[in-house]
Amino acid sequence: MARKLWHTRALAAATTGVMAFALAACGGTGAGGGGNGGAGDGEEGGLVGVAMPTQTSERWIADGEAVQSGLEEAGYEVDLQFAGDDIPTQQQQVDAMINAGAEALIIAAIDGTALAGQLEAAAAAGIPVISYDRLIRDSENVDFYVSFDNEQVGVQQATSLLMGLGLVDESGEPVSDAPAGPFNVELFAGSLDDNNAHFFWKGAIDTLQPYIDEGTLVVPSGQTTIEQAATQRWLQEVAQKRMEDLLTANYGDKKVDGVLAPYDGLSRGIIEALRSAGYADDAMPVVTGQDAEIASVKLIADGVQYATIFKDTRLLAEQAVIATEAYLAGEEPEANNTEDYDNGEKIVPSYLLESTIVTKDNIQSALVDTGYWTAEEVESGVAE
Ligand code: BGC
Repeated sequence: MARKLWHTRALAAATTGVMAFALAACGGTGAGGGGNGGAGDGEEGGLVGVAMPTQTSERWIADGEAVQSGLEEAGYEVDLQFAGDDIPTQQQQVDAMINAGAEALIIAAIDGTALAGQLEAAAAAGIPVISYDRLIRDSENVDFYVSFDNEQVGVQQATSLLMGLGLVDESGEPVSDAPAGPFNVELFAGSLDDNNAHFFWKGAIDTLQPYIDEGTLVVPSGQTTIEQAATQRWLQEVAQKRMEDLLTANYGDKKVDGVLAPYDGLSRGIIEALRSAGYADDAMPVVTGQDAEIASVKLIADGVQYATIFKDTRLLAEQAVIATEAYLAGEEPEANNTEDYDNGEKIVPSYLLESTIVTKDNIQSALVDTGYWTAEEVESGVAE
């Protein structure tokens, strides 16, 4: 079956606020006419609430727009909201969606534990809840989870670090004539309130630990726990400040060889700190990433950042739409993982997608040939 790719970025630039679009004139009923379809008016193609965490990272804008356009094509109305990474704002947005008569909710939580009250209200109103990319925790009222294989993403992040240091090939196999090291590396993790951060860290640290144990990798700061490596709210400036501090405290007489960074925004903060400390762009340590953000893809093309992990948000959005359609047709969506995502109250049936390591060598095949970014965007580093 050919997968339909929604052209997320072909849509108008980032749009906030309540979207009460007329129903798309497809699907036969024409129920919305030309007017603003009222929320929950009972006609075919009801309202779906889509709650995204923030617009500061372009992936969430792309996710929001892709989910919105997919749902609209399927004949639903969409209320798409971004919460500016503010937990009370996201709580209010979800409350408002429920009050407006949303028939399903798709939520990428800021803090995975902060929406239990909202989900209780959703369950009481019979509204299915799809946890999007990040698992909502501590609530039995999460019906389905669509995401990537997050532990594998962490394995790929660590693998890309080892690849950049010349220790393994792209499938993670040790290189026969690998350098002995030791290599100085520093480790960054995501926001501890995001369930994904723990999966990324586990995948990464399990992959790196043997190299740390045998002394091929050394962490001069000694900061090797997720708590020490964490980056509150995934903020670029927080990562930049920590990298500056690490450089000042530990690198007076040594060089950094590699940095594990689990998100491109953090990678760019880390690169800024390295630049300020005198590292030239053509002599950067191996810096990893995630999300294939266009600014980082350009840095990779320019040989400054080493790698990112590409998670195709178009495919994730597609799965969220498929799951929504299943629920609204009175069916259960199809899961491909019913074991790994325990949210503290239950194992949430999940649909997990695969991700890809992207270095300079496969920007063209992974990102340009697939239509995720154009060659011009890679060249300029700016999304059009
Ligand atoms: C997502 C990552 C993203 C990070 C920061 C995580 O939950 O899975 O793709 O880099 O949040 O936005």
